[in-house]
Amino acid sequence: MRERVVYLNGRLVPESQAVISVFDRGVQWGDAVYDAARTFNHRPFKLREHIERLYRSCRYTRMPIRLTPDAMEKHTLEVIEPNMPLLGPNDDDMIWWTVTRGVNPLTRSVLDCHEATVIICTFPVPFRAFAKWMTRGARVVTPSVRRTPPQCLDPRAKVSNKMNHILADLEVKAADPEAYSLMLDIHGNLAENSGANFFFVRQGQLCTPAAHNILEGITRATIVELARSLGTPVVEGDFTVYDVYTAEEAFLATTTYSILPVAQLNGAPVGGKRPGPLTRRLIEAWNALVGVDIVAQALSHLELEPLAVKR
Ligand SMILES: Cc1ncc(COP(=O)(O)O)c(C=O)c1O
Repeated sequence: MRERVVYLNGRLVPESQAVISVFDRGVQWGDAVYDAARTFNHRPFKLREHIERLYRSCRYTRMPIRLTPDAMEKHTLEVIEPNMPLLGPNDDDMIWWTVTRGVNPLTRSVLDCHEATVIICTFPVPFRAFAKWMTRGARVVTPSVRRTPPQCLDPRAKVSNKMNHILADLEVKAADPEAYSLMLDIHGNLAENSGANFFFVRQGQLCTPAAHNILEGITRATIVELARSLGTPVVEGDFTVYDVYTAEEAFLATTTYSILPVAQLNGAPVGGKRPGPLTRRLIEAWNALVGVDIVAQALSHLELEPLAVKR
């Protein structure tokens, strides 16, 4: 079977040959930034917004990247195009960019790093990982590990070193392997999941943690626009678990699954029927925007599972 291609430092190579140095600072120190977009109906969604956020992450972390955003977009399309036919009809692709500070020089000095490592790859959206929660609603748990404060590392930068998030997930999954994390900031305010933003509904208002503690998700921004277009007020601020325990609805939001209804926080039910009425309207508005029924698409992958097992 033909392999997917990967863009690596100026060349398109088969995935199995896309290798980088063991001395790359991304490998040695997690000295890297990344971004992730996806396709809907095989069409990239908000590609330019993701590339612009990648470049903001690069500027903040001072990555020595020479490629312009326009060239990055061009090379991204060159990766997507040959990889798309390898997808099934109901599949879509994740699009993943990684920029590292390059190979560690012998001096090991950050000042001697002049050539970023640039990787663009795709892989299928992992629908089976989240599909069943689309209708049941996810279980969410707050770990003791707090989100890195903005005074240490600005959460708006999408840095590849996810140890803060990974430790939070490990703690949550030790208690409930199927649960999702909802990290708090150092003051106990709601922050975000390891790979998603968080929303809840209170008295008809859509509430979400303020931008200073979180990655400013492109899904989050799109949902805020959709909610306002539906006439729903949106409140960004500092909230605590109390606000979610007493909420009418809640959901997680990220590129991979768009909107994932939440059923429980720390074992306590959130709201009633899942998805709640506003979550449902937002999912419908999202479907209209991207031209895909995101729930049906995810569920179709669950139906495939028993067949795959039988074979
Ligand atoms: C920590 C974190 N928060 C939020 C998000 C959601 O961002 P987006 O909607 O742009 O995918 C992500 C996405 O990977 C993330 O890693």
